[in-house]
Amino acid sequence: MTTYAIEAQGLVKRFKDTEALAGVDLRARRGTVLGLLGPNGAGKTTAVRIFATLLRPDGGRARVAGHDVVRDAGVVRAMVGLTGQYAAVDENLTGTENLLLIGRLLGLSRRDARARARELLERFQLTDAAGRATKTYSGGMRRRLDLAASLVGRPSILFLDEPTTGLDPHSRGELWDLLRGLVADGATALLTTQYLNEADVLADDIVVIDKGRVIAEGTPDQLKSQVGGQVLELRPVAERDLARAHVLVAAAAGPQARIEGETVTAPVKDPELMPAVVRTLDREGIAVGELALRRSSLDEVFLALTGHRAEPGEPEGNGGAAVREGDDAQVREAELRKAVTRP
Ligand SMILES: Nc1ncnc2c1ncn2[C@@H]1O[C@H](COP(=O)(O)OP(=O)(O)O)[C@@H](O)[C@H]1O
Ligand SMILES: [Mg+2]
Repeated sequence: MTTYAIEAQGLVKRFKDTEALAGVDLRARRGTVLGLLGPNGAGKTTAVRIFATLLRPDGGRARVAGHDVVRDAGVVRAMVGLTGQYAAVDENLTGTENLLLIGRLLGLSRRDARARARELLERFQLTDAAGRATKTYSGGMRRRLDLAASLVGRPSILFLDEPTTGLDPHSRGELWDLLRGLVADGATALLTTQYLNEADVLADDIVVIDKGRVIAEGTPDQLKSQVGGQVLELRPVAERDLARAHVLVAAAAGPQARIEGETVTAPVKDPELMPAVVRTLDREGIAVGELALRRSSLDEVFLALTGHRAEPGEPEGNGGAAVREGDDAQVREAELRKAVTRP
């Protein structure tokens, strides 16, 4: 019998009338990243909080390295690190002081706590800022410190709840590299994200939840081929033909045909679609500049599964706004566009 690093069976959690989790099954093998994807309110944070022993489930079970999160909460707590949706460091303390405090709370000697703090600050490129109050840190620096804080106790299993939400692409890339390094060293991670390309890049397996239920799961590749499989992309030579081309493609491919920038896209389920579209456009006298078939992006999979695109998270704690960099919606838009246009 395999012991999964992270495992949930029929997990249920209710908040008054809201069923935040309505029987969720998921599991992560050791040394892998499990991406937990879902729109705002899907139940991601609730699941993470149960795994981190911060919430008790109302039904089902959750286990970390085989230990039940309710019955063996103490054992579980000692082996997990949690990076919350919003940075949880004390902003009046310096980087060093934050890490020292956590080390001491975890029972490290003063000397070991100091050594561990120095090591982590170095690893997360915060040595130069170590003596500054963290309220002077940029959003990217705070997230790095937050991740460092969750690693003080050398957890083998990490829960990362939207660790990159609101970060600029550069800071996000830095966090990706850090996470990759941790997993290469043997850690297992459950990563929730609203950035679909993030799950695509980092996750070995993905579970998509919506309204507290699993609606899809598999590797990124499996998910991409599960929905639509391929996408037709067509760009008329003349931009004025775009709307007419859209109507014609929609007539052949169905209502999921859309205009994106200067191209018309449509999921391809029938191999006959491509030649049919070519014939129709030719007959209608629309000159085609580019015509291509590519695999669906994870973004399109998400859209097809949930009927809506990933949405930005609602600030739920205090300090949420403070860690944001740039315009969240804009960054996300750019991400989604990248996900859509990636080959
Ligand atoms: N402490 C709480 N009290 C009441 N409702 C909550 C609480 N936490 C979460 N919920 C509700 O449970 C659902 C799932 O929330 P959450 O797990 O935060 O979703 P996600 O992290 O995917 O955005 C939402 O409808 C949310 O409003
Ligand atoms: Mg959340």
